[in-house]
Amino acid sequence: MRQRLAAANWKMNGLSRNLWDITNLAEWQKNSLVEILFCPPATLIHPIAKALTGLTGTSVQIGGQDCHTHASGPHTGDISAEMLRDCGATYVILGHSERRHGHNEQNILIRAKAETALRFNLTPIICIGESGEDRQHSRTLDIVTEQLEQSVPDGAADKGVVIAYEPVWAIGTGKTPSIDQINDVHMHIRKKLDTRFGSETGQRIRLLYGGSVKPSNAEPIFQCPYVDGALVGGASLDPRKFSAIIDALGST
Ligand code: PGA
Repeated sequence: MRQRLAAANWKMNGLSRNLWDITNLAEWQKNSLVEILFCPPATLIHPIAKALTGLTGTSVQIGGQDCHTHASGPHTGDISAEMLRDCGATYVILGHSERRHGHNEQNILIRAKAETALRFNLTPIICIGESGEDRQHSRTLDIVTEQLEQSVPDGAADKGVVIAYEPVWAIGTGKTPSIDQINDVHMHIRKKLDTRFGSETGQRIRLLYGGSVKPSNAEPIFQCPYVDGALVGGASLDPRKFSAIIDALGST
């Protein structure tokens, strides 16, 4: 049985005054059976970790939004997996489409980052997903297969790697695939993972859906049998909306 995961991707948003949003949410969701993860900008990881240690009974996790392939060295402006771990993170988002497109990150690089993250005991959330053009040309499953094969490291299943299926055209647009489309892609990913890692080990990998998840569409998405949770951008900036999404995940 895979524990369901609600992950918040704050992207380049959030200042120290937003710490309250996280501690409030952690308080409201104290008894949730859903695993809750915040991936704030790097500047907030340590303050959030400190604020959460003052709360009893919370199991809210913190993650980074990227890490370097190298453990340390002359890489101005980058952040290492060990630094994330050192300031309280246990997860890291890798290969988000905003990094694939905005920073020209390729599958091979993402795989190398994931390997480094695993070496420093960070759980990578590896993002994959097709562009609108790929979808129009019926290339979705091919693209997702290629990304899966090339950016997920061997041994990923043993270490509990998470995969987030995020159609690029659904990110921040308010558009979402139909439930059938989500089902088809998730089922396809699950089969590929079973084939590569073996059905027992492959089953450990959690599959998130991401792209315009909000309280009003969360329930039908979470009813998809192969969806183990969500990676939420815009709606996670509002603690009430994110809390409603967590509730939907816990009750479906
Ligand atoms: P969105 O972003 O929920 O704002 O569409 C999701 C993501 O980019 O992870």
